[in-house]
Amino acid sequence: MSKKVLIARVIPSVAEDLLKQAGFTVSVWKGNQVMTKDELIEHARKVDALLSLGSNKLDRSFFETCKHLEIVSQFAVGFDNIDVAAATEFKIPVCNTPDVLSEATADVAFGLMINVSRKMFYNHKLILRGEWKQFEPLKNLGFELTGKTLGIFGLGRIGSIMAQRCKGAYGMNVIYHNRNRNLEAEKETNARYVDFDTLLRESDILSIHSALTPETAGLFNKHVFSKMKRTAVFINTARGGVHNETDLIEALQNGTIWGAGLDVTNPEPMQANNPLLQMPNVAVLPHIGSATLEARTGMARLAAENIISYYKTGKPVTLVNPKALF
Ligand code: 8YV
Repeated sequence: MSKKVLIARVIPSVAEDLLKQAGFTVSVWKGNQVMTKDELIEHARKVDALLSLGSNKLDRSFFETCKHLEIVSQFAVGFDNIDVAAATEFKIPVCNTPDVLSEATADVAFGLMINVSRKMFYNHKLILRGEWKQFEPLKNLGFELTGKTLGIFGLGRIGSIMAQRCKGAYGMNVIYHNRNRNLEAEKETNARYVDFDTLLRESDILSIHSALTPETAGLFNKHVFSKMKRTAVFINTARGGVHNETDLIEALQNGTIWGAGLDVTNPEPMQANNPLLQMPNVAVLPHIGSATLEARTGMARLAAENIISYYKTGKPVTLVNPKALF
């Protein structure tokens, strides 16, 4: 009997096509809204494998109820929505979709950096409000990026591409801080490893590319912002949970830092009356890092391939918790 897979939202059809071609029976949640926990459990109970999204909360109680699942393959590189320890306890392999979205996400970080440095969203809003009246020699001045220092927190795949973009386009100096040094990326990007405080002290642009973990949750707070340059721009395209949004608002209002570009917010979605949306030196996007045809197609393909490869060979392509297989 063929294995059953639930795809938890409509995603590029390549996932369903590949799974069907490989002999799986596929059901797709066609709702416009993310499934509620009860809906997810009700549907997951009927299948062997789950193709999940970052918006599905797969916590310990989910795995306790659905321990029959043979694999969870996530359509995202991040997996902070999944209690991986619980999945591992129940011997459920968890997979993600790295690499295929790195270019797209680095582009958003790069775009936000330029946008904030020239107050682009803000200037656009002025036109919409009918406030473009005449040439203004002294208003809305930004700053130039050439020769500035880019600090990367979390130099992995996406951070490396951001570093390459910034070096190539603006000759920026690149410094970074990671839990462990990334020698390969250092070679590729000429990035210099520094301790956390040096990263804060020297970065003109500080771009976050780390995962959301207990160590990084809320890390960028009042205390940390106070160690940054008053002229610095904070960019976050990783997870909103890495920064404290109240502290960020305060740091921008007080001039502790100069600007911010966010593709991820805390919480998500951001309310329309959030003060960040009115600040001249801030640009906010609604978590669109991977929103290109290429990236989303690549994510759907890899999420399906993880399931197919697991059933064919016993090994998914991009496995998060190898311990689940022992
Ligand atoms: C997705 C993401 O938009 O891959 C990630 O970690 O944050 C984004 O690509 C989203 O999580 C899709 O499930």
